[in-house]
Amino acid sequence: MGYSDFRRGSLRRTMRTSLAVLALTAVMGGCVDEDTVYNDRPFGNDPPASAGGMLGYVEGQQGQPTCAQCHATPSASWTTTAHAGAWETLQGSGHAQEFCEACHTVSQLGNAATAAVGWTSTGDERYLDVQCEACHGAGQTHIANPQATQPIPSLAVGQGLTNGCGECHNGTHHPFVEQWELSKHSEVVTFAASNPECAGCHRGQGTLLAWGVRSEYLEKDSADPLPVVCGVCHDPHDATFEGQLRFPVNTADVTAHLCARCHNRRSNPDPNESHGLAPHAPETELLVGEAGWIPPGADLDFGSIVASHGTENNEKLCATCHVVMYEIEDQATGELLLNSVGHTFDAAACVDANGIPTGEHDCPIDTASRSFVGCVASGCHSTQANAAAIMNLRSEFVANQAATLLALLEEVDPNLDEPGGEIDASVSTFTIAEGAFFNYNLAYHGGDVHAATVHNSPWIRALLAASISAVEAEYGVSAP
Ligand code: HEC
Ligand code: HEC
Ligand code: HEC
Ligand code: HEC
Ligand code: HEC
Ligand code: HEC
Ligand code: HEC
Ligand code: HEC
Repeated sequence: MGYSDFRRGSLRRTMRTSLAVLALTAVMGGCVDEDTVYNDRPFGNDPPASAGGMLGYVEGQQGQPTCAQCHATPSASWTTTAHAGAWETLQGSGHAQEFCEACHTVSQLGNAATAAVGWTSTGDERYLDVQCEACHGAGQTHIANPQATQPIPSLAVGQGLTNGCGECHNGTHHPFVEQWELSKHSEVVTFAASNPECAGCHRGQGTLLAWGVRSEYLEKDSADPLPVVCGVCHDPHDATFEGQLRFPVNTADVTAHLCARCHNRRSNPDPNESHGLAPHAPETELLVGEAGWIPPGADLDFGSIVASHGTENNEKLCATCHVVMYEIEDQATGELLLNSVGHTFDAAACVDANGIPTGEHDCPIDTASRSFVGCVASGCHSTQANAAAIMNLRSEFVANQAATLLALLEEVDPNLDEPGGEIDASVSTFTIAEGAFFNYNLAYHGGDVHAATVHNSPWIRALLAASISAVEAEYGVSAP
């Protein structure tokens, strides 16, 4: 019996039982996979014996993955992703060579297979493009009996892993894994990941759940937390938003913006919280002028002090500065050293002598130590030196104001927020000094004043100035 004959025979049976089960579950209000539809068409011929069970496109129907015949929704959206055109892109580049091919086809890369399969073992054109099985793995056993086993993909990322996005998205031309590993998104705050209250931002599985992603992936029920992996920010088969992101970054609307979904936890003091005087991911609200404590009677207008960085003048908000892509060439030879893809997520990234981001944060603010490419590429600043100069000047100003405020607060309560005195996070009575201390912490969130300065210089300066006045008035102390 030929492969497709076998398929057609057994599928009809599968179809009937499954539809009955689906109907029943629907009546019972259970969880139904609405994306799975059944279809009478032949599933194509047997894959070549050496393909490792990879099916690829239906024979004679390039662009139509075998999986698509049952999984309509992910397939229709996959068609709109760059993955669906990966082979054409390679050929169109004029540089195609054999070693390029495994990443632009269905092969052993991206899935559990480690020996050559699919395109690499057969050279059969049904395996062109980054199709379903590139990530999910071989589907032959699954389609023979969909209920018995499913090809479940992995969302883990890391160098040396033999599956996942990272097997293709690495190297000089697309160092996503290497740069991501330098970023904090590759780290997990373990105690936060294990706390359900925190998991929505600190555990990859928790974020996906919070965002309504119910589908299966290998790590879904693992006790080991995933950090903010590629598949948290990117949708594997949906290109609705630019860059295949789960939420857009090309919007100045912080209720819609991808980064703002997590970078928005505590931006105002909370007297009833043991950490209530420390900001926690306040970046979003600071950017739009809504973070911080406003002293009573201070003439600060919420939302009216939004620097241009937080408005529609900055089309991608966070991503303009934190996801900057540029090519780095050898100064002498002009050879490509690295196509930096901005996935260290550093703004004004510290760079080495060649201009390659290092993942460090405490380097000087100058164009030799940092890259200000994003500030210029966005059309906002005329030169990198200009952006560096402004950042330096404003940071110095904010640091001076913050130092003045701290000196006053130390006069009021020398042990600051340690128990006892005017500033005591463990006591729920809220004081002027505590509000001012929160604003001081806001200025220094991230370890230095650079972030607050760039996120919203006018606002942080106004908050610090108002805090200084309020502390002077309340406690009769005065700034030197
Ligand atoms: C013959 C129809 C059919 C084809 C073809 C098919 N599937 Fe499935 N698939 C199903 C059915 C039915 C289920 C649900 C099985 C169950 O839960 O019992 C399923 C489940 C899955 C699941 C698990 C989804 C979840 O959240 O539980 C994945 C992943 C999957 N299929 C991927 C694929 C891939 C990749 C291909 C192509 C290699 C493919 N399928 C081809 C019918 C099919
Ligand atoms: C290690 C896997 C891998 C290999 C090997 C590989 N590519 Fe790619 N290629 C990718 C990935 C991943 C992307 C998507 C990168 C992105 O969108 O930034 C890509 C994108 C491209 C693009 C479109 C984006 C661009 O940079 O212009 C072209 C053209 C391309 N590759 C050509 C080639 C050629 C030519 C070779 C061989 C000389 C090659 N690739 C080898 C993984 C690979
Ligand atoms: C770039 C890797 C990648 C490609 C290509 C890909 N998938 Fe997936 N797929 C995943 C990952 C990761 C998940 C789990 C996370 C998610 O759904 O966002 C998933 C989930 C699924 C699910 C479960 C969805 C649900 O709602 O239960 C199905 C079914 C599926 N994929 C089918 C397909 C089919 C069919 C194709 C090809 C048309 C395809 N996938 C292409 C990586 C991929
Ligand atoms: C088999 C190799 C392979 C795997 C596995 C793979 N990719 Fe890709 N990816 C590519 C190639 C090649 C391209 C470039 C395609 C093109 O430009 O034609 C690409 C392009 C992309 C793009 C660019 C989209 C755009 O609009 O420019 C995104 C985003 C992406 N991949 C994310 C992922 C994620 C997330 C995963 C894992 C869930 C993944 N990829 C797994 C090879 C792969
Ligand atoms: C914190 C969220 C986040 C994480 C984690 C993340 N990305 Fe991205 N990625 C982005 C954003 C934002 C963009 C830029 C989209 C834009 O500017 O339109 C992007 C762009 C891309 C692109 C498209 C580049 C192009 O040529 O336009 C690829 C490919 C990509 N990411 C792959 C990956 C891979 C692979 C990983 C994991 C190693 C990953 N990303 C992790 C947010 C993320
Ligand atoms: C799923 C939640 C989530 C999303 C979405 C997200 N982040 Fe993060 N981000 C985190 C967490 C959690 C950390 C801290 C991780 C740690 O320290 O272990 C972090 C850390 C960072 C850091 C490093 C901070 C430092 O102290 O050095 C930067 C910069 C950053 N994110 C920028 C971005 C940008 C830009 C985006 C949007 C493209 C984004 N993030 C999207 C959760 C997220
Ligand atoms: C709304 C999303 C969100 C929630 C919920 C959340 N966090 Fe965070 N947290 C972040 C982001 C984003 C960062 C990184 C940016 C920053 O530090 O400003 C972060 C940073 C941290 C850090 C500092 C990490 C470092 O780099 O050293 C700790 C510790 C932390 N969170 C603990 C917790 C705990 C404990 C909880 C639960 C009680 C929690 N978080 C809940 C988003 C969140
Ligand atoms: C105008 C450019 C710009 C914009 C827009 C921007 N940032 Fe930043 N961000 C910076 C700079 C510069 C730093 C300081 C980098 C350093 O010290 O090395 C920084 C620092 C950070 C840090 C680390 C310090 C901290 O506060 O923990 C995080 C996290 C962060 N930004 C997240 C975001 C998020 C989320 C958004 C969008 C809501 C955003 N940024 C918008 C430029 C920007």
